[in-house]
Amino acid sequence: MQDAPVIILGIESSCDETAAAILRRTSDGETEILSSIIASQDEEHRPFGGVVPEIAARAHMQKIDTIIDQAVDDAGVQYDDLTAIAATSGPGLIGGVIAGLMSAKGLSMALGVPLLAINHLEGHALSPRLAAPCPFPYLLLLVSGGHTQLLSVNGLGDYDRLGSTVDDAAGEAFDKTARVMDLGFPGGPAVEKLAMKGNPDAIKLPRPFRGKDHANFSFAGLKTAVARAFDASDKTPKAKADIAASFQRAVCDVMTERTAKAMELFRDQHPDIDGYRFVIAGGVAANKSIRESLEELCTLRGFTLTAPPMKFCTDNAAMIALAGIEHYIKGDFAPLDIAARPRWPLDKQAAKHRPASGFGKKGPKS
Ligand code: KG4
Ligand code: ZN
Repeated sequence: MQDAPVIILGIESSCDETAAAILRRTSDGETEILSSIIASQDEEHRPFGGVVPEIAARAHMQKIDTIIDQAVDDAGVQYDDLTAIAATSGPGLIGGVIAGLMSAKGLSMALGVPLLAINHLEGHALSPRLAAPCPFPYLLLLVSGGHTQLLSVNGLGDYDRLGSTVDDAAGEAFDKTARVMDLGFPGGPAVEKLAMKGNPDAIKLPRPFRGKDHANFSFAGLKTAVARAFDASDKTPKAKADIAASFQRAVCDVMTERTAKAMELFRDQHPDIDGYRFVIAGGVAANKSIRESLEELCTLRGFTLTAPPMKFCTDNAAMIALAGIEHYIKGDFAPLDIAARPRWPLDKQAAKHRPASGFGKKGPKS
């Protein structure tokens, strides 16, 4: 345990949220969130129905200094009080990651404090611990616009990927469904709202990978099936609601079925632990039907569900600062010439093995 309190500034800019937060770890091990500022870029991306990387990078560059200043002000600290600077260094949209990392490097140099290069996925993996004690190990389902992964979070720096999407993320499928039916951006909340008025059994849609002996996901086929169903429909409000409801039901089914498989894998990996815990994070975790389906699954399979508050589920800098504190305590500092990494798998196995998915010319994406 460290003697003096550690005060860390966290910076997040890997997708379409520009965020900064300040966390303090006291000498008795308590962590306090002193501030957490998030500037969304929804307005900038709305006309395009999805995140446009160049627009995201420019928006991060324009906003980041103000957001950091605001985080320092809100925390009631001075720049000189900071012990270290933690920034997301990947994986993510490269222009945005560079914007955040450059600011962190500048501050680290100017203040003469260490730089901590944080994997965005590690931030998500540790995020439930921002809200409440969440002892290792636990099974994490990360479902956002950029990621769909099932991870065994064994301890700090020790993660096993039990499954991931082989094509699109679940959030992308929600956004595409909304785009096809012209429901607006971000698509998830719009699809969820419309789904309430529709019949989930109205349209027959696929459940990719059902019954497969692994815990991977696939959403590309489902996305295409939705587009076809819409083309073939009479495009009335009733038809749209039925498609939204049927799509959401298909995603719920896929999520629960794939997670059930991951629960088996998790139990095999950890046969003797004291209670099984399942955590959901990411923007899609806001979806009530998905949450309810997973709650039911947890009850059936003897897992306790932990769903952190939404402000910690979606992209935020508090989770980056938390990971930063842990790395600071380990003395795991980054050199000032560290590069941003658009691809950076969290689990060590992915670096060595060819995964089932997301494997481009330069290796696994995440
Ligand atoms: O975690 P997040 O805020 O950002 C990243 O993608 O990193 O997740 C955003 C995604 C979007 O694709 C959005 O459509 C989806 O989460 N989403 C939802 C809901 N709210 C947000 N999907 C389904 N139902 C929702 N209520
Ligand atoms: Zn994220």
